[in-house]
Amino acid sequence: NEIYLHGLQGQIPPFTTDATALGASARAHLDAGAFGYVAGAAGSGATHRANREAFDRRRLVPRMLTDATHRDLRTRVLGSTLPAPLLLAPIGVQSIVHPDGEPATARAAASLGVPTILSTASSHTLEQVAEAAGDGPRWFQLYWPNDDEVCASILARARRAGYSTLVVTLDTWTLAWRPQDLDQAYLPFIRGIGTAIPFSDPAFRAGLARSPEEDLRAAVLRWVATFTGTDRSWDRLPFLRRHWDGPIVLKGIQHPGDALRAAEAGMDGIVVSNHGGRQVDGAVASLDALPRVVEALDRAGSRTEVLFDSGVRTGSDVLKALALGARAVLLGRPYAYGLAHAGEAGVRHVLRSLLAELDLTLGLTGHRSPAELGPDDLWEHP
Ligand code: FNR
Repeated sequence: NEIYLHGLQGQIPPFTTDATALGASARAHLDAGAFGYVAGAAGSGATHRANREAFDRRRLVPRMLTDATHRDLRTRVLGSTLPAPLLLAPIGVQSIVHPDGEPATARAAASLGVPTILSTASSHTLEQVAEAAGDGPRWFQLYWPNDDEVCASILARARRAGYSTLVVTLDTWTLAWRPQDLDQAYLPFIRGIGTAIPFSDPAFRAGLARSPEEDLRAAVLRWVATFTGTDRSWDRLPFLRRHWDGPIVLKGIQHPGDALRAAEAGMDGIVVSNHGGRQVDGAVASLDALPRVVEALDRAGSRTEVLFDSGVRTGSDVLKALALGARAVLLGRPYAYGLAHAGEAGVRHVLRSLLAELDLTLGLTGHRSPAELGPDDLWEHP
C-alpha cells in the first residue's frame, strides 16, 4: 500500500524491489573488489548456481477460497517469537560494502524486529553492534578459534552484550578457492579484517606484539593461525556448552548424518547451508539437502530445529524452504546489496520488500501462517 500511495504522489522506491536484480544494481555502488567479495563463490560457481536452480525446480501449488485475508507471519524459533520466519545471515567485514557496516545493518533489522546474526569477522566490535541493535534481537556467529582462551573470552563478551543465541559456523575452517577474491589477492578482506572482533579482544590481542594498524601482516597471520584448521571436533562441543548458556546452533550442515550427530550432541538447532556456494564448489544445493536432513531428524524423533540458508531471494523462496521443513530462513547477499545501495536505509528497503512479498505470497497461496505449509504445497519439476 505504501508503494501504491507514494506512486500516486509520483514517488518510486529508492531502488529495485526485485531481489533477483539487486546484485546487478548494487554493482554500480561497489568497486570490483567489494563486488567480487559479496557476489563471488567457490570455484566455477556451480554450487552457487545450483542453489538457485533447486528453488526454480520446485513450484508452489496455490490453494483457493481459503480465507487468507488476515495473515500472521509470527514464528517461534528456539523459544522466541520472531515477527517472521526470517533472520539476517552473518556476513563478515561489512565495511567492505559500506562504511557504516554492521551497526547500520543491525539498526535496520532491529527496526523491524528481525534478528541479526553478527559475524566473528564483523568490522565493528560486538559491543558497538549491540548498542546499534538496542532492544532488537541479536545472535552471535562464532568462527571457532583453536585457542580456548580466545574462544571463552569472545563468548563471554557476546553474552555480556546481550547476544541470545550462538551460531557456530563449521564449514569455513579454511577459506575455499574463491577466484573473485583470489584475483584481488583478498585485499579488501585483508584491509578490513584488522578491525574484526578478535582484534578488540584482550585474549586475542595478547598474542600480538603490535596493533593491526602498526603491523597488518602479523595481525592477518595471527587470524589465520587462530581460525584455520580442523582440530575442533564433535567431542569438543561440550566446551561451547560450558561457555554459552543460551541456545546453540550449528551452521553449515548438509549431510543428514551430520544433522543426526548435532541432534545427538544436544544442539538446539542447525542451519542447513552451503555458505551461499562459497565453500565447496560442486557441493549439493542447500535446498536439495534440506528435505533429507528434515526427514532424518523426524525419523529420529529429534527436537533440534532446522533453519535454512543459501539462495533465498524472494518471498516464494522463503515459503519453499518452509514447505520442505525449515522453521525459518537466513537472508544473505540481498541485504548486503541493500547496504551497498544506501546503508541502513538500503537494508531496511530490502527487508521490508521481502517481508511484504512473503506476506502477499503466503496469502495468495492460500495460507494464513507459515506453520500451515508442508511438502504437499510444493511440486518438483524434473
Ligand atoms: C557470508 N557468509 C558468512 N557466514 C558466516 O557464518 N560468517 C561470515 O562471516 C560470513 N561472511 C559472509 C560474507 C559474504 C560476503 C557472504 C555473501 C556470505 C555466509 C552467509 O552467512 C550465508 O550462509 C550465505 O550468504 C547464504 O547464501 P546466499 O543466500 O547469500 O546466496
